[in-house]
Amino acid sequence: MASTGCRICGGRLEELVDLGAMPPANWLLDVPDFEQERYPLALDHCSACANLQLRYCLPADVLYGHYFYVTPTSSSLDRHYRWLLDVLFERGYAGPRSAVIEVGSNRGAFLKAISPHVGSVLGVDPAANIVEVARKDGVDTVCDFFDADSAKRIAEARGTADLIVARHCFAHNEWPQRMLEGAAALLSPNGVLVIENNYAAQMVRDVEFDQIYHEHMFYYSLSSLSAMLERNGFRAIDVEVAAVHGGSIVCFAVPTNSERKAHERVAALLETEKKQLSPEALERFAKRTYAIRDELRTVVSGIRDDGRRVAAYGATAKGATLMNFCGFTDAEVFACADSTPIKEGRYIPGTGIQIVAESTLLQDPPDFFLLTAWNYKTELIAKARSAGAAEVEFIVPIPNVEIVR
Ligand code: TYD
Ligand code: ZN
Repeated sequence: MASTGCRICGGRLEELVDLGAMPPANWLLDVPDFEQERYPLALDHCSACANLQLRYCLPADVLYGHYFYVTPTSSSLDRHYRWLLDVLFERGYAGPRSAVIEVGSNRGAFLKAISPHVGSVLGVDPAANIVEVARKDGVDTVCDFFDADSAKRIAEARGTADLIVARHCFAHNEWPQRMLEGAAALLSPNGVLVIENNYAAQMVRDVEFDQIYHEHMFYYSLSSLSAMLERNGFRAIDVEVAAVHGGSIVCFAVPTNSERKAHERVAALLETEKKQLSPEALERFAKRTYAIRDELRTVVSGIRDDGRRVAAYGATAKGATLMNFCGFTDAEVFACADSTPIKEGRYIPGTGIQIVAESTLLQDPPDFFLLTAWNYKTELIAKARSAGAAEVEFIVPIPNVEIVR
């Protein structure tokens, strides 16, 4: 549905960028269908509360009908989990008896990491096929959307939570306020709610326009998160910016009347964001977005003219945005390497580009890899080199188009 005002504060919106119409990024296809439904992908800005939101939000059944996102096995994610655990325990946001609930728990990777150190863990996730995977792996998971109703059911059946973790899901909901209502119903009075999302200030700084896709309905900063929390009975007491997923904000929030005091990091980051999300910074982001698209088109068509071949590396949602925005099809990018078994053999939406097992493309490498999983840049380049792909060059799309040899 198209929005007429800011979904956090009701304020007036201005266009930031318009990436054109494309299919939802995670709609991986069994056949290369170019007639697939495309939906407008445009990002708007509210200067009143610093909110960045999609202009058109698709209903959940359209978005998640063909959902294939599975948290990858990755050393950088493991490091992130360990870092988050240290922060939670060192700062008293979690303890050995904590009842921990993760919203949007996917296959339960984070819960498995925290589980040995706390009293109990429970996941909540709406994707039945992925909940199945989590349960088989021993992670107790409720299959449901998280809102006041499901939260009350969980609280009645299992008691309240001391820690609720919501990693990368507040942005996936047209009305994130409903998740806050859920958190309010489930969190104990002294409990802590951790919200992690892609960080808008970093997206803007590093021109990560490919973070924009239909599932990401919001692009949060501490400013916009605080505006939302404060309208819904919570307040931010602490914040961190982590490198994971191309820059993520981790916000620690408590019910408004909690006794926990806010750390000075909160006020400091709010101040920093005034510059990072200034009108000038936003304008630069928009200009660079279109410039990078043009440059990538030039680089890729130059490589083709030389008779050399490009494959993408990482069948990411970001990659789907990037390739649709650039207008790349299998004529420009002949395949996409990825290590996720359920993605293998399927097609990147809107492009006709087929996903091939990572091992296959590392054994028989192309001339160039377009790094569509640039958030794992160091890891993927090292992996390709150690698999013996010594010659392959990497096209890193952001923050500048760069060729790594
Ligand atoms: P992800 O970072 O979750 O991106 P997005 O949120 O934009 O979809 O996806 C990373 C993808 O990269 C995932 O499909 C798995 C793939 N991948 C590999 O193929 N090899 C690897 O070594 C790693 C770490 C990831
Ligand atoms: Zn607003």
